[in-house]
Amino acid sequence: MSITNSDSEKNPFKALYEISQLINSIQELDPLLNKVMDIAIETLTAERGFMLLKSSESSGEFSASVARNISEKKIADITEISSSVVKQVLAKGETILSYDALQDELFAGSESIAIQQIRSVACVPLRIKKRLIGAIYVDNSKKVGRFTQESVDFLSAFANHAAIAIENARFCQALKEENVLLKKEMQRVSQFPEIIGNSKKIREVFDIISSVLDSEITVLIEGESGTGKEVVARAIHYNGMRKDKPFVAFFCGALSENLLESELFGHKKGSFTGAVQDKKGLFEIADGGTLFLDEIGDVSPQMQTKLLRVLQEGEIKRVGETQIRKVNVRIIAATNKVLIDEVKSGNLREDLYYRLNVISIMMPPLRERKGDVPLLAHHFLEKYSKKSNKEFKGFTPDALNSLNKYHWHGNVRELENTIERAVVLAKANLIDTKDLKMPSSSDELFESGVTLKDFNKRLVLKTLSENDNNKTKAAEILGVSRRWLQYQLKK
Ligand SMILES: Nc1ncnc2c1ncn2[C@@H]1O[C@H](COP(=O)(O)OP(=O)(O)O)[C@@H](O)[C@H]1O
Ligand SMILES: [Mg+2]
Repeated sequence: MSITNSDSEKNPFKALYEISQLINSIQELDPLLNKVMDIAIETLTAERGFMLLKSSESSGEFSASVARNISEKKIADITEISSSVVKQVLAKGETILSYDALQDELFAGSESIAIQQIRSVACVPLRIKKRLIGAIYVDNSKKVGRFTQESVDFLSAFANHAAIAIENARFCQALKEENVLLKKEMQRVSQFPEIIGNSKKIREVFDIISSVLDSEITVLIEGESGTGKEVVARAIHYNGMRKDKPFVAFFCGALSENLLESELFGHKKGSFTGAVQDKKGLFEIADGGTLFLDEIGDVSPQMQTKLLRVLQEGEIKRVGETQIRKVNVRIIAATNKVLIDEVKSGNLREDLYYRLNVISIMMPPLRERKGDVPLLAHHFLEKYSKKSNKEFKGFTPDALNSLNKYHWHGNVRELENTIERAVVLAKANLIDTKDLKMPSSSDELFESGVTLKDFNKRLVLKTLSENDNNKTKAAEILGVSRRWLQYQLKK
């Protein structure tokens, strides 16, 4: 697009119309700004130029958005170069046209113009009605008198159209960005609807789950009892590629060696007393799907060796058979022990540990994500009131308060049981503290023999860990300043 003098002289309105059509068709902000800049430079046959835009609606600051023939380095001092001119335009919202800046009394005393040896300057405001959103600046160093009043008038008219197009593009861009954020948020909230929680720690778990969904990788889930290890294992299976194949959960503790082997690998009829017919093991049943090995820390050394073989070779042998069978099973293992300690103390084969622990997920105990307690409590209230055909409006503030304050030794499972019981006991349509029947919490904080200094330290650390290590929040709860808290932490 070029507006030569003859074009705009012939039919400036037509040219303006065409340009407006063009810029209105560009929705993306960057391409639009570039096009506007190009048109300004071409219209005035300027040497260099730039555009300033208000950084945001509320701020009074203007910053350079595009530039032509001004080096990266110089863009930084654009405001310096042009300050005198641009300031006037921004202050008065009026167009400036100077044929020879050096001679023009407008710039008397303005060093920047002199330094840059600029001869011709034009600067037009970008305005929407009365509101100033920026300015377009162009200049020439050599050709004195280059810019004509006509071409600058043309630029001014054009700038009015450009301002609206820019405003629209910015609005559009802001909406798009917001939309992306909202979509992400939606995904995060509803990606694993079966796992309730929104604390930082549980969101970290969501992130790992998402990253292992589309792979066959073995996952080890560690965490105290009742923290949701099985919930996570199921989420990985049912949201992953194997969701149409079986998910088989197996509790490894508390079974005799022989029974365990026959359960997992199957047996041949007559291979031991009670083996009255051939039986498929869980590895075969879970073929193509996922086998969840719960309490993996409890299996015997012999069993560990057999498990290691399946993990390495993908092959099993039924008890009493010599035939080797291929299986394709994704393993998710869980334990409430600290597995690496089991390796160190010789209870667990190191090679098995590394086979299992390709990706590990550490389930946070409920006391480290107390922010999730109200969410979980309401979730379970809904679940159990549906089951019992009772209707509840929620919890009394007092009840919520005691739920929040309680030290959940049994984690989510204990919370769930507490709510289930309350639903049975409650007579009114709000769950009250007395319905919760919670044992009075004996807290290690209050053990006798604790020094004041220790108490101080424990309370600070406890409050921090209950609030995602958010110092501002912890300080607020403790009723101290953030600085005091930071000082205590340093100590
Ligand atoms: N984040 C969670 N959201 C909803 N329910 C949960 C969550 N974590 C645990 N639960 C519930 O708590 C109970 C214990 O969870 P589970 O996965 O069996 O724990 P673990 O295997 O770690 O002992 C289950 O009834 C489960 O549904
Ligand atoms: Mg479990």
